[in-house]
Amino acid sequence: MLVEEFIPNTPSKNIGSGAIGFSSPSNIALVKYWGKRPHQIPANPSISFTLSNCKTNTILRYTPKSTDDFSFDVFLDGNKQADFRPKIQQFFERILPYAPFLKSFHFDIETSNTFPHSSGIASSASGMSALAICVVALEELICIDLDSAFLKRKASFLARLGSGSACRSIEGGLVVWGKHNSIFGSSDLVGFQFPFEVHPVFKDYQDAILLVDKGEKQVSSSVGHNLMHNHSYAKSRFEQAHKHMDQLIPILESGAVQEFMNIVEKEALSLHAMMMSSDPYFILMKPNTLEIINSIWAFRKETQIPVCFTLDAGANVHVLYPKQYTSEVEHLIKGQLSVYCQNGQYILDHVGLGAEPIKI
Ligand code: DP6
Repeated sequence: MLVEEFIPNTPSKNIGSGAIGFSSPSNIALVKYWGKRPHQIPANPSISFTLSNCKTNTILRYTPKSTDDFSFDVFLDGNKQADFRPKIQQFFERILPYAPFLKSFHFDIETSNTFPHSSGIASSASGMSALAICVVALEELICIDLDSAFLKRKASFLARLGSGSACRSIEGGLVVWGKHNSIFGSSDLVGFQFPFEVHPVFKDYQDAILLVDKGEKQVSSSVGHNLMHNHSYAKSRFEQAHKHMDQLIPILESGAVQEFMNIVEKEALSLHAMMMSSDPYFILMKPNTLEIINSIWAFRKETQIPVCFTLDAGANVHVLYPKQYTSEVEHLIKGQLSVYCQNGQYILDHVGLGAEPIKI
């Protein structure tokens, strides 16, 4: 796959004003993306579950204009949000070669999240993927002859340029991003659905997100990824991610949840180990993160219920478990784990279908 594929070369039509809407979910990585090269190229392949309930709803209102600049306003829950502008300006600049029509319109970008804004859940994956697919849907209106598989691929390609992990939110289920030798068709440019057989247990896996720390991120993703340049352990970390991808293929096919949990937890702790050993170094877990991890391990030992955790670049804990154990795990969360969450807050989510149009 080459970037040239995404430069439009079909004639464009004149359209008037209108609106396009998409909702796009967050995703949770099983093998983590941590480290990147210029143009949002990942240092290693990653794989994630697309979520369902944690999503961003975005409406892109467009009005034709004649000036040669970007013109847009951003609204979060109906309120103008000036602090979102720089990120979106940068996104538009990056994707302009692939969406040259962006300067031909004024946009009102109306966005809202289904999860609390200050929950510490990264909204960049859902937010950037929702905006990216709106842009591609606009291209579909302007240009002729675009097929739907290409539109999804292009939405993922654009989303990646906004935020790497966002490219894994367009498709549902298990999504792979980054070149990996055992996965034919895998690419550093786009996320695409895991191409092998998936055991039913992983088709409706559950993810309870325990909100340990709802504050601003201590380290932004971009700063974090950059810490992998010249990191003493970078080479072996990237090799480990490749090895984990290889190991996951038969595990996901056979439904081997014990082996699955082993890799998922190792990935989470390796991600944090990279942060703890970078220069400068960070500890992003909080004491309550460790309390939760220890409680999960004790519960697992006692009950033999296959529940495990993963972490993003923060203190919140994602609790992953098969759907058949929903009542036992929800009982554990309500009774024991929620005391470690800020204001007792957590979000119950599960594997979902990916980005979907919103009727306007
Ligand atoms: C720890 O996608 O937020 O969640 O490309 O700089 O926007 P940028 O980074 P981002 O990084 C996410 C890192 C992670 C792991 C993962 O989701 O794979």
